[in-house]
Amino acid sequence: MKLILLGPPGAGKGTQAHFITEQFKIKQISTGDMLRAAIAAGSELGKQAQSLINAGKFVGDDLIVNLVTARIAAPDCANGFLFDGFPRTLAQAEAVQKAGVKIDAVIEMAVPDADIVQRLSGRFIHPASGRTYHVKHHPPRVAGKDDLTGEDLIQRPDDHEDVIRERLKAYHKMTEVLKDYYQKLGKKSGVHYLAVDGSQPIDAVKKEVLTALAKIK
Ligand code: AP5
Repeated sequence: MKLILLGPPGAGKGTQAHFITEQFKIKQISTGDMLRAAIAAGSELGKQAQSLINAGKFVGDDLIVNLVTARIAAPDCANGFLFDGFPRTLAQAEAVQKAGVKIDAVIEMAVPDADIVQRLSGRFIHPASGRTYHVKHHPPRVAGKDDLTGEDLIQRPDDHEDVIRERLKAYHKMTEVLKDYYQKLGKKSGVHYLAVDGSQPIDAVKKEVLTALAKIK
């Protein structure tokens, strides 16, 4: 299975990626997580990405495409993968096509902008694993602590309201066009396009996504 999760920041891509990758035994390829790992490691890529991410802007297409191309060539991706937050521009989607990567399905998660601001400003993450919580919708068992390790949870620097609004602007300007791109590609070359209402509770979204994917497997 080679899948793409498409949706605005905070749509619940990371949350659902966890369920999908577990169900289908495939790797999650989150460009956001990879960039944050590069920032934490202090690498050249991390230095280039940090100020862009903190301002809610996209990192350059060439850097991202090179990062992803190298990642999916690794042996642990042989069974398939789930792109989470990639592709995010037309140029990135075209690069996937040009590389001959055959995508089985695109799962679009739609959530209104007003819900996004509320979701992201209440999000806490466990940096080491990427596990995600929400103060109201998905609270940890102990406030501020990861359920599995008990380690501290943090808020992402780009989860402040002004940056969230910039990220939403970038999504509407650069990423939303991919809905049309993949629906047209679906008609031409059989990529399944699954549109899911991401504003439902987490378990309802999970059920809808896994049921739809089971039908195409
Ligand atoms: P990235 O890390 O990919 O961020 P994003 O796309 O903005 O998405 P998020 O991780 O913020 O949200 P999500 O959809 O995964 O939601 P989550 O499940 O956490 O990218 C960060 C930055 O890196 C970008 O802004 C850009 O600068 C750069 N970048 C990354 N990829 C790039 C690329 N390809 N090209 C260029 N630049 C790139 O859920 C959010 C919250 O809501 C959580 O608290 C969760 O518990 C809660 N929640 C989830 N589902 C529900 C639900 N159904 N109901 C209620 N609450 C819910």
